[in-house]
Amino acid sequence: MPAMATSASLQARAAALRAEIQRLDHAYYVLDAPLVPDEDYDRLFRELQDLEAAHPELRTADSPTQRVGGAPLPEFAAVHHRVPMLSIQTETDTTPQGAIAFDQRVRNKLGLGPHDPPVIYDAELKFDGLAISLRYEHGVLVQASTRGDGETGEDVTQNVRTIRSVALRLRSDTPPAVLEVRGEVLMHRADFERYNARQRARGLPTLVNPRNGAAGSIRQLDPQLAAQRPLHFYAYGWGEIVGWPDQPQTQHGMLDAFESFGLPVAKQRVAGPGPQTLIEFHARIAAARDQLPFDIDGVVYKVDSLELQARLGFRNREPVWAVAHKYPAQERSTRVLAIDIQVGRTGKLTPVAKLEPVFVGGVTVTNATLHNEDEVRRKDVRVGDTVIVRRAGDVIPEVVAVELDRRPADAGGPFDLYKQLGGRCPVCGSAIVREPGEADWRCTGGLYCPAQRKQAILHYASRRAMDIEGLGEKLVDQLVDGGLVRTVADLYQLDQPALAALDRMADKSAGNLLAAIERSKSATLARFLYALGIRHVGEATAKDLARHFGSLDAIVQAPVDALLQVKDIGPVVAQSIRTFFDQPHNREVLALLRARGVHWDETGAAAAAGPLAGKTLVLTGTLPHMSRDQARQRIEAAGGKVAGSVSKKTDYVVAGAEAGSKLAKAQELGVAVIDEAGLLELLGDA
Ligand code: IVH
Repeated sequence: MPAMATSASLQARAAALRAEIQRLDHAYYVLDAPLVPDEDYDRLFRELQDLEAAHPELRTADSPTQRVGGAPLPEFAAVHHRVPMLSIQTETDTTPQGAIAFDQRVRNKLGLGPHDPPVIYDAELKFDGLAISLRYEHGVLVQASTRGDGETGEDVTQNVRTIRSVALRLRSDTPPAVLEVRGEVLMHRADFERYNARQRARGLPTLVNPRNGAAGSIRQLDPQLAAQRPLHFYAYGWGEIVGWPDQPQTQHGMLDAFESFGLPVAKQRVAGPGPQTLIEFHARIAAARDQLPFDIDGVVYKVDSLELQARLGFRNREPVWAVAHKYPAQERSTRVLAIDIQVGRTGKLTPVAKLEPVFVGGVTVTNATLHNEDEVRRKDVRVGDTVIVRRAGDVIPEVVAVELDRRPADAGGPFDLYKQLGGRCPVCGSAIVREPGEADWRCTGGLYCPAQRKQAILHYASRRAMDIEGLGEKLVDQLVDGGLVRTVADLYQLDQPALAALDRMADKSAGNLLAAIERSKSATLARFLYALGIRHVGEATAKDLARHFGSLDAIVQAPVDALLQVKDIGPVVAQSIRTFFDQPHNREVLALLRARGVHWDETGAAAAAGPLAGKTLVLTGTLPHMSRDQARQRIEAAGGKVAGSVSKKTDYVVAGAEAGSKLAKAQELGVAVIDEAGLLELLGDA
């Protein structure tokens, strides 16, 4: 039957698409080595989606389209672990002695003497996430569960399916009948930071740490929400196994097999003889800890041979064949001595907790960021509080939570940034503002504030601003750090000897730079406005302002109402411009810039804002006191356009003696006709 044939070929196509997408997913999410551009992937994915939509019977449980599916659950079902999920003993001695003690215990228990060969060990990372068991039956993921109390966990299959690196089907033609893979679900630090930054910008609650982020997502009853937080999985062990004839007989062999099945296994692991292998691994990972993409709280040592593991067995529900060797904690509690406010390069004000020194994440921490005012209030951090500080990776230490039960009676009041600073930048004294919809307070003394100096100078000199070629980051660092330049106005007082004395600055390049600075003196009003670095004033707004007002003074003095008349300028931008020019220090710098020779042609700009801006005029006949050319120049300087012929779009016809057909045409079309006196009146001369 033809119908059967069609359906068989569709079935084959769906299977091929599934296999190909699975291959691409594995390369992308597990190997971190994409094979095709995103568009190609998206095309295949859409084809499969369309196919399944048209033929729902083609939809299989392991289809990549089925990662996010299903409605929110009322609660998680209980899952009984046929092989319990146990924990491991922690070796408290974090010196090499810890590894030697573990080796001794193992050798004693196995009855090995000093002359017997070394035991082979496997060393792995100790992931700091949430333990998960993945159950594959005949290669297909059928269930994912949490550890719970070790005997009974929760069925979190829906959420775990949303983790892209978790294979929905094992890459094997002969998978075990049952394979329970155990490992850890975690959030990469970069994803955690990105997620929190986005939440912070929106004024929403942030995650305390990646572990809570991972645990919270997995325990989320709505899989759609769980899918929004990017999680990863790393395998390190197993539970029930049925029907796997060629099962490896070592710990590292098992992990290799998991890897070949397409499951993520961290590449940081080794197998080798004796405690020396473990000591080396411990040191190597300690040095690399900050560079790992995720948090670990230590390393785990395991006896490699599964036969020896079985002989060693368990004691107090902990394997005798494994031990965890911890690193210094990445979270510690300490006391808040003060809350300072720092001014960043862009004028952003960041509250920072000054802490009683605490050793966390391998370093002594005395400052921790509180990000912004709303975060401080949400966490309700007060001076005198005991707080949990986190330092993981190269990320700046941050206060993650307050231990409220330890708040002293004399703790400070709720945080109020504006009140604490009296409304002034702690560095330069300019007004501070927090715009509607923004999380940060900012200093408005952009041209003057020492904290913003380097950034302001770099922006001023940038190509699309004043275009001072050769004035890059390294040079600005030297000029500012050496005290040669405090504001952009000082650039125009630099001389050859001062520049030539700088690092890596030859006479010739000093000369070139001075020439570039000199050239920048002749600017346009639009470029100059843009160069000032006023918040929200980009190139387009700068041009609009220049065209509308024609002169710097007009802009400096324009009230908000007048600024709002400029096209595309709304209340936030208008206020930002107003506040900038209201800062006396900013105005001082402007005056200095002008005194030192920075100038621009205001007439060109004025034209666009002149009395005839947007008007079209036609000249005809002979005017009593002006030549035709003079009239044209005056009209253009006032922003008008002179056209050669009369049309409905003509605004005025200026008629002199012996005007001819153009006058007749104007009368026919009803276009206004004026004489020289009328033109002078329009020009504002009368
Ligand atoms: S082996 C029977 N290996 O640490 C022993 N555990 O207290 C099974 N963990 O909850 C554990 N990384 O979730 C093992 N490479 C690793 C691990 C690891 C993290 C977690 C595990 C468990 C806890 C052990």
